[in-house]
Amino acid sequence: MSRIAVIYYSSTGSTYRIAEAFVEGAAEAGAEVRLRRAGELAPQGVIDANEAWSSHLAETRHIEVATPEDLVWADGFALGAPTRFGQPASQLKQFIDTTSGPWAAGQLAGKPASAFTSTTERHGGQESTLLSLHHTLFHWGSVIVPTGYVDYQLSHAAGGNPYGVSAITGDGAPDEHVLALARFQGRRLAELADALKPAEAALA
Ligand SMILES: Cc1cc2nc3c(=O)[nH]c(=O)nc-3n(C[C@H](O)[C@H](O)[C@H](O)COP(=O)(O)O)c2cc1C
Repeated sequence: MSRIAVIYYSSTGSTYRIAEAFVEGAAEAGAEVRLRRAGELAPQGVIDANEAWSSHLAETRHIEVATPEDLVWADGFALGAPTRFGQPASQLKQFIDTTSGPWAAGQLAGKPASAFTSTTERHGGQESTLLSLHHTLFHWGSVIVPTGYVDYQLSHAAGGNPYGVSAITGDGAPDEHVLALARFQGRRLAELADALKPAEAALA
């Protein structure tokens, strides 16, 4: 059984919903799963001025804040953040910027990893955000697991983004097609982590 860490940031809940679907999919595949949120960095006054943001933060405070040890523990992981001006939200980036210890010790290499995001707009920068997260995964030596068109119908129905799971939230929460793809991707990640574990152990 593999261990999967789903590490995300979400201000108003859309990216969180995708993270939950990843967790569901990985658990369906028999994985032990950690859902972890990146800690909040925004000034309290900015959060308080946005009812959706403050209520989502209150609802998810019980979720443990991610630490680099979660990546060391995991055999595979998914990283997700909303798009901010075409880039991942800085809260997730801040978490990423605390991982140099395990990175330098080679504890992140060889693990399968996926990225996910949400945007308001159809062409608002999903791919640039996903590729930006992939840049980090290159540095970590991850085995990048994109959505591709592995299940064409599922991918097409979810918007046809081969880079990773992504939702357009301008009209509301991530739809059932996106969540179905996230569950599929979570299952795949867990199965690949299981398959790659012996290879990694042999190389260590
Ligand atoms: C500062 C800021 C920058 C944003 N930049 C973009 C953007 O570049 N493209 C886009 O489509 N949406 C952008 N958005 C909208 C969010 O990405 C979108 O609402 C996302 O689904 C929110 O996810 P969450 O509910 O998980 O926080 C931005 C929002 C904020 C607050």
